[in-house]
Amino acid sequence: MIITLEEASKRLLSGGVVAVPTETVFGLAASIYHEEAIKQIFMFKGRPSDNPLITHVSSIKQVEVLTEELPQDFINLVEVFWPGPLTLVIPIIKERLSSTICAGLPTAAFRMPSHRIALALIEKTGPLVMPSANLSGKPSSTMSSHVESDFGKEFPVLAGDDTNCSLGLESTILLYKNGRWTIGRLGAISPEQLFPILDYIPTFENEQKKPVCPGQRYRHYAPKCALHLTDTPPADCDVIIGFNDREYPKNKRVISIGSLVSPEESAHSLYSVLRLLDDESIPQAWVDTHFPHEGLWSTIRERLNKASKL
Ligand code: TXA
Ligand code: MG
Repeated sequence: MIITLEEASKRLLSGGVVAVPTETVFGLAASIYHEEAIKQIFMFKGRPSDNPLITHVSSIKQVEVLTEELPQDFINLVEVFWPGPLTLVIPIIKERLSSTICAGLPTAAFRMPSHRIALALIEKTGPLVMPSANLSGKPSSTMSSHVESDFGKEFPVLAGDDTNCSLGLESTILLYKNGRWTIGRLGAISPEQLFPILDYIPTFENEQKKPVCPGQRYRHYAPKCALHLTDTPPADCDVIIGFNDREYPKNKRVISIGSLVSPEESAHSLYSVLRLLDDESIPQAWVDTHFPHEGLWSTIRERLNKASKL
């Protein structure tokens, strides 16, 4: 059910939960001051309670009041990337933020979204927690119809004339520890883009055994359809997820995620394509992963890797 900004703000201020478009993916929003609404988010998504939520803010002050001090380079990072798809995990004063949000951790994740509607909403309501608006483990939502497909037609979805999730992939998560930032989740900002601010390219911690973002432990972004990642789709496959500027064997169904010259295009359509596979009850598909390893492609590859895990 599509609702207006006014209606969304009213519902959130009185302890409701609504879906909200952001420039990355749709979020499932609740006010950080409404404990019951926060708990409902975990319930609606089927999300494990040890997986903390990102607090979305409309000013740096809203972060400052929850911390002893902002870590080194925090201001430099947000000056360049906020509002936008960068989430920063920093130590907080535990008593000042619901432990349900932080899953009991002494740190919290913060992001200021750049989507016009999302930011206007937070300006009205104050900080909002917003996990991606999808059932836990499933592909994220980049269209209001995706949200309705997961949570039902009656679920309130904020929409207006600008509901496009322009990026289509979640924010990049950076964690601060022992004087350095590391990447907890690859996302819409590539590691290389962080070099000019930090003077080093932060490493992706989840490449190691124990993920630093609790959410990365769980199955993620996955359709029911079995995905086979391959550099050369085999002759006997039926459905190929590939690129519109590459030739594939004849007589195959090719679902395009975009052009090889534009990782942005593939990022934008990735979740729609993964959802389409289940909408059409396609049992298995072969994904062409013969694309570059750098920049945004590395995030697309990581999402496909996760989505293909059983
Ligand atoms: O682009 C995004 O970030 C979207 C939009 C809606 O803003 N939100 C999103 O939220 O992707 P979610 O809940 O789907 O993913 C949040 C991730 C989880 O993997 C969680 O474990 C991690 O952030 N996280 C949150 N707080 C953390 C903390 N204190 N320490 C480590 N990881 C944390
Ligand atoms: Mg998510």
